Amino acid sequence: MKNPIDSAYKILRDSIITFEGRPIGTVASLHPDLPAENYQECFVRDFMPSATVFLHDGEYEIVRNFLETVLQLHKQQRCIVGHKIVPGVLPASFKVVQASGGREELIADFGDRAIGRVAPVDSIMFWVTLLARYVEITDDADFARQPVIQEALRDILNLLLKDSFEIYPTLLTPDGSFMVDRRMGVYGHPLEVQALFYGVLRLMPFLMAHDDENKKSLELAKKREEILRDYVRKYYWLDIERLNEIHRFKTEQFGYEISNVLNIYPESIPGWVVDWLPDNAGYLAGNIGPGRMDFRFFALGNLLAIILGLADEEESSAIFNLFEARWNDLVGDMPLKICYPALEGPEWELITGCDPKNVAWSYHNGGNWPCLMWAFTGAAMRTGRREPARRAFEIACRRLPEDDWPEYYDGKNGRLIGRRASFKQVWSASSLIVSHKVLEDPDLVSKLI
Ligand code: GLC
Repeated sequence: MKNPIDSAYKILRDSIITFEGRPIGTVASLHPDLPAENYQECFVRDFMPSATVFLHDGEYEIVRNFLETVLQLHKQQRCIVGHKIVPGVLPASFKVVQASGGREELIADFGDRAIGRVAPVDSIMFWVTLLARYVEITDDADFARQPVIQEALRDILNLLLKDSFEIYPTLLTPDGSFMVDRRMGVYGHPLEVQALFYGVLRLMPFLMAHDDENKKSLELAKKREEILRDYVRKYYWLDIERLNEIHRFKTEQFGYEISNVLNIYPESIPGWVVDWLPDNAGYLAGNIGPGRMDFRFFALGNLLAIILGLADEEESSAIFNLFEARWNDLVGDMPLKICYPALEGPEWELITGCDPKNVAWSYHNGGNWPCLMWAFTGAAMRTGRREPARRAFEIACRRLPEDDWPEYYDGKNGRLIGRRASFKQVWSASSLIVSHKVLEDPDLVSKLI
């Protein structure tokens, strides 16, 4: 049998794309007969685990070039159906094309070419997170102090803190604006975006110059960070105690001193959650809005909440109790279930718009994604839970190289290779390398993830 890590490294090395001779990123997949054209592009979110490997191995140049390339593309503003892309928005993905005269050209997708025209809200946040990691690991604070980067950080913060009609401290986002980039009922205030938003607010004081120009925005960021943290911990958190409260909630309350602030109807508690949630466990709900609590468990949102400090110690530990108690549902035959449970029948019809890729227990709708391993291992090690991290890593090693690094798996326990999955999916491979490195040297986790 091939050594899984060697085989993963081969995928990662072969995936590197260059622009004018310099490495600038990695394609999403090396599959020769791609299920979607955009898999030839470098996705900002997919680059996270790959960048983590490069940073660990001291290959700083590709990460620096990637950070600069994304920024350069953000300057190429164009019109999206009638309005200009606002400063601060970063692309979902980009590619290098051959232009006339043997020149190379970079083309970005800001959602204006994407399937369903989805907005890449998470790209901004992953870019800031990676910038912070790059600066910390290389100790190259001057990189972030360059005027062009400072200007981008200011634009990003202004965009994120912009006034809107919103009452909540969470960030209102359109459907499909993060890893789940299709209709899945994830519009509004999805956890994954809130966790990333919180991470960015925390990182800004470290990255932005503390001068008069930034003073006001940094103060606002600090305030928002605290309010957001308290809000998410209070309203997104679900354990048996909270479920009991919701079960007996009074509704239609008005004013300040009320318990059911978001007017959640107890009748909306889905039958599955009551017996599924163990006594010693809990998790952050997928989404919260007026009269709406999405009880589904979204793995990446919960894991990023742990990694970025949005979940406190007790909550992080309860989330890992959930992984351990519901191992078959959430890990199964291939780590890791992206979302539990799946939408079925009329719910699937209405919520996904009859998306055949997102049928029950497939793709975003309850599929298992090996690319989540980097976040799972990182969050587990941060919570002091080496055992689940090791166990998941062993399961992933057993199948991934043999199956040729699929993008995702299907079925309740993830036993089948995804029906429409591409093979040689780069973040499936780089995530396994990250897990391997962190398991070998747990001290790396605070630096790398
Ligand atoms: C799919 C996934 C998205 C990922 C992209 C490239 O569109 O939904 O999260 O970034 O593929 O792998």
